[in-house]
Amino acid sequence: MTEDTQRDVSRRNFIKGVIATGAAVSSAAYVFRGSSLLGQQPSMPGSVERLLTLNVNGQDRRVDVMKQETLAMTLRYKLGLTGTKLGCDRSECGACTVLVDDVPRYSCSVLTHSVRGKKIVTIEGLASADGTLHPVQQGVVSEQGFQCAFCMPGFVMAATGFLKTNPNPTRAELAHGISGNLCRCADYNKILNAMMHASELMRRS
Ligand code: FES
Ligand code: FES
Repeated sequence: MTEDTQRDVSRRNFIKGVIATGAAVSSAAYVFRGSSLLGQQPSMPGSVERLLTLNVNGQDRRVDVMKQETLAMTLRYKLGLTGTKLGCDRSECGACTVLVDDVPRYSCSVLTHSVRGKKIVTIEGLASADGTLHPVQQGVVSEQGFQCAFCMPGFVMAATGFLKTNPNPTRAELAHGISGNLCRCADYNKILNAMMHASELMRRS
């Protein structure tokens, strides 16, 4: 055997060895993936896919969501929709209210994974594409209904949802309808003026 032939043979052996090792490693990985010994079955009961699509303000948004993540956290810190406020973070103040399939919900107490396939609307999605304010937003602007306005997005979303079910409320009905929202500035009278005006604007539009 010449020196060149010997080099060719040992090179061929080397390549064969690499391919054989790669095949062994790859099949081992395959076996381990399917094995319950490591506790990593492909679909564990209760496992949740983290990358999901949410319909927010008419747009499909892909987002990586932890199993225990609330909708408020996803909206504010993953999707940058900071109009949704976090006050108490435990279903008491209503600052985080958004619409889920037209129903006002406290987003601090809704798991993001539970609203897959539903339509979510935040304060950023209320105005028309041409910038025309929603009647409830316009009512707030016209009546100057808030002081610091931290609670305002939550009130606007709650009133928007309520007025869809009762477009011609009395003041008492409206007050009851948005009673799940609190205002630390206690500006309730002005807030109700703004929302009553908003209901008028909605009926006219
Ligand atoms: S922040 Fe959600 S109810 Fe207060
Ligand atoms: S206007 Fe300040 S919390 Fe409502």
